Amino acid sequence: MSETQFEKKRQITARRLGISPNAIPRHIAIILDGNGRWALQRGLPRISGHEQGGKAVQIIAQHCVDIGIEYLTLYSFSMQNWKRPEEEVNFLMHLIAAYLEGIRPNLMRDNVRLLHLGRRERLPQMLLDALDETMEITGVNDGMILGLALNYGAREEITDAVRAIAEKCCKGTLSPEQIDESCVSNHLNTAGWKDPDLVVRTSGEMRLSNFLLWQISYAEFYVTDTLWPDFSPEELEKAIVAYAGRDRRFGNIKAARPQ
Ligand code: IPE
Ligand code: IPE
Ligand code: MG
Repeated sequence: MSETQFEKKRQITARRLGISPNAIPRHIAIILDGNGRWALQRGLPRISGHEQGGKAVQIIAQHCVDIGIEYLTLYSFSMQNWKRPEEEVNFLMHLIAAYLEGIRPNLMRDNVRLLHLGRRERLPQMLLDALDETMEITGVNDGMILGLALNYGAREEITDAVRAIAEKCCKGTLSPEQIDESCVSNHLNTAGWKDPDLVVRTSGEMRLSNFLLWQISYAEFYVTDTLWPDFSPEELEKAIVAYAGRDRRFGNIKAARPQ
């Protein structure tokens, strides 16, 4: 999809929200948190919260397509989440696989390309199959990129990149002098992507929980108390309007972004 098609959508969105089209983030990364608490508040098992959270994922992904977002990265399962009870982990693996199968027609209709961030090891075969098939069929799409951080950890991602770079140096295909920021970026799962402009975390927690540590060094952070299953397109737009009001100085003394 050409840059102007994203731009057109962003212009319509900006007009509606009363902000500049330049102030709409190109890449939104979301730490979707609070499924368990949502269920607990209703006296339901935690897995009901995940089920409801899956529905919110569909609605938010669709909305991001509509408003002209270029990259949406969703933190759906961290490497640290394996510490959870086996029953919950198994449920999540099946839920994510079913989600991937269910959304394929929408991804194709909306020209969305799905990509995986995280390690493959430890993920069950049925989930890897669902992931691979979805990545393969959406590989032809050139609209929004939907990054699914699944079995993902930022420290692990950086460690893998360091190892890959070291191997190239040992083989002599790369020299230490060639290692700069773009070399490191190009060895991450997000190689070639724009860095996130806006990181949203639901359920009020003020931490990053091992999410995209390299890529978000200058992202704006937005936290809402809303629990993920209740997160709506209106809430997302509130975050975008808040983002639009931020001064991104990147170390300089004035904002870098034209308003
Ligand atoms: C987020 O909700 C989903 C995952 C981490 C898989 P949680 O399951 O962390 O919900 P809370 O934080 O316990 O409420
Ligand atoms: C972060 O949520 C990971 C995901 C959203 C997948 P957690 O619920 O696992 O984070 P902590 O444990 O509260 O830091
Ligand atoms: Mg949580």
